[in-house]
Amino acid sequence: MTQHFLTLLDLDKAQIHTLIERAIQLKKMQKAGEPHELFKNRVMGMIFDKSSTRTRVSFETGMAHFGGQAIFLSPRDTQLGRGEPIEDSARVLSRMVDIVIIRTFEHEKLERFAEYSQVPVINALTDLYHPCQLLADVQTYFEARGDIKGKTVSWIGDGNNMCHSYINAAIQFDFSLNIATPKGFEPDKEIMARAGDKINLTNDPKAACENADIITTDVWASMGQEGEQDERANAFADFQVDSKLMKLAHNDALFMHCLPAHRGEEVSADVIDGPQSVVWDQAENRLHAQKALTELLLNQK
Ligand code: CP
Ligand code: NVA
Repeated sequence: MTQHFLTLLDLDKAQIHTLIERAIQLKKMQKAGEPHELFKNRVMGMIFDKSSTRTRVSFETGMAHFGGQAIFLSPRDTQLGRGEPIEDSARVLSRMVDIVIIRTFEHEKLERFAEYSQVPVINALTDLYHPCQLLADVQTYFEARGDIKGKTVSWIGDGNNMCHSYINAAIQFDFSLNIATPKGFEPDKEIMARAGDKINLTNDPKAACENADIITTDVWASMGQEGEQDERANAFADFQVDSKLMKLAHNDALFMHCLPAHRGEEVSADVIDGPQSVVWDQAENRLHAQKALTELLLNQK
């Protein structure tokens, strides 16, 4: 069976912890100028149905560091965009490339691709999950503060793809997750149920931030929801992460955001640009964490 990475739960706890350690090591190797061309002539196919800066550049750069290649495939100029079945595309592409990453809308489309692919498939974001971001976020916490086990993370805002991946991360890395959303924007019930008492759900952002070790948020309207921007801005008006919310957390709490951010909406400028913010480390760690992930999947027997 080919090992894919469609959600954080596709790896076992030992694998995912080793992956974080390896990401930290690969980062040191790169900074020290140690070559690590471990995958010469290997090729990554990159299917993007949605925009991306960080995900695209980090995966492409990672393959370059490994001595391999990456091919960016947009629906505008492939047959995927003209209705070639996903199953056929998966069968064809996976006979040529060694690994595929996909950013798309429906999570089910990613699952279907993986089912017909002979090579590992990575979720580069769907409407339901964004697991690669969580690898970088957890790496960032480990580097800044040590083990995240037993810590408290506050998710403020939309119960979206990032929130769902935080729920899975709470299971895999054993931390508590306080989720504060406006009424009607809660995360998926089944995804939450799997995490049991690791999750505390509320509609009160202040309650969620008390004694937190990380406060994190995301845009109010995700890709594909642009038409709901105004309605969402009203619903989320009381959910901005500002210095008052940050003060409720522990003194050494970190602020995280997957980016891109909207200053003055989900986060105030003084918080995202302030001393507790680690957003640039998070963004950089996309590169290192995904190199560790690519290595793990390419090395599977
Ligand atoms: N955080 C993140 O996935 O960024 P991009 O949309 O730029 O890839
Ligand atoms: N929730 C956001 C994350 C972007 C990285 C979106 O899906 O647009």
